[in-house]
Amino acid sequence: MNFEGKDIISIKDFSKREIDYILKYAKEMLPYADGEKFKDVLKGRILSTLFFEPSTRTRLSFESAMNRLGGRVIGFADPMGTSQKKGESLADTIRMADAYSDAIVVRHSREGAARLAAEFADAPVINAGDGAGRHPTQCLLDLFTILTEKKRIGKNKVVLLGDLKYGRTVHSLAYALALYGAELTFVSPTSLRMPKEVVEECKELGVEPVQMSSLEKAVRDADVLYVTRIQKERFPDAEEYNRVVGSYRVDNELLSNAREDLIVMHPLPRVSEIDPEVDKTSHAVYFKQAFNGVPVRMALLSLVMGGRL
Ligand code: CP
Repeated sequence: MNFEGKDIISIKDFSKREIDYILKYAKEMLPYADGEKFKDVLKGRILSTLFFEPSTRTRLSFESAMNRLGGRVIGFADPMGTSQKKGESLADTIRMADAYSDAIVVRHSREGAARLAAEFADAPVINAGDGAGRHPTQCLLDLFTILTEKKRIGKNKVVLLGDLKYGRTVHSLAYALALYGAELTFVSPTSLRMPKEVVEECKELGVEPVQMSSLEKAVRDADVLYVTRIQKERFPDAEEYNRVVGSYRVDNELLSNAREDLIVMHPLPRVSEIDPEVDKTSHAVYFKQAFNGVPVRMALLSLVMGGRL
């Protein structure tokens, strides 16, 4: 399978066979991701990380992934320190990154920004999150985590909880889980339900998601509980946010009714939707999930830049 030069904009651009291939390669990357082994397959290559929106995990894990493979990184974490402040367009910024590097990672608040960026770059463009749109590399690391922890992706009962309207990670993940035939239950405040087009995508793949209002009931026989933060920064007005803030919380009392092998995932950052007391339980896998960003992104960088293990 050849991914050299391929843009990674949406998980929908990949077949199930291609996703399986990436996840298998990511597993091979594990000893390189934690520093146990080293091979500089991307020596001499440069990655641009262009973050027009804040990030901790996505930016740092991409940069770690590139460094772990012997490559170098240029970029910015705050567009106000760039010529965007002087009015430069996204297209021209992308043209510059294309001239200076071999692959471009871009996060932007505008849905469709990564797809637009790909039109202005010859180098592969990787979408690191575009507004409330898609976050394909998060999706791949989420699938990798489910596969590692549960030994399968399909045949799991997965509950997606929280801000399903603005949370881009759950848009990509719902589609991908449906591709694998997982059972999906959506739990959210009424105003933050999963967009209809994502529900339709799942149905087209043969999966009919169940919308449930009771988190207690949903969690009872779930294999995976995927929690998301309410995306305050995407609300058009503060009043809408104030109506839903604090409307759900995962704590040990809730989990006392769950299966012993339930895993709790979260793309992070969390605010108050998971009580820190959950961190010490065997259910919590969200920090491992965040680490998995490194092997998965190493696999992707290696594949799109053509530097194989
Ligand atoms: N999960 C995720 O995208 O985290 P960051 O916003 O910190 O990159």
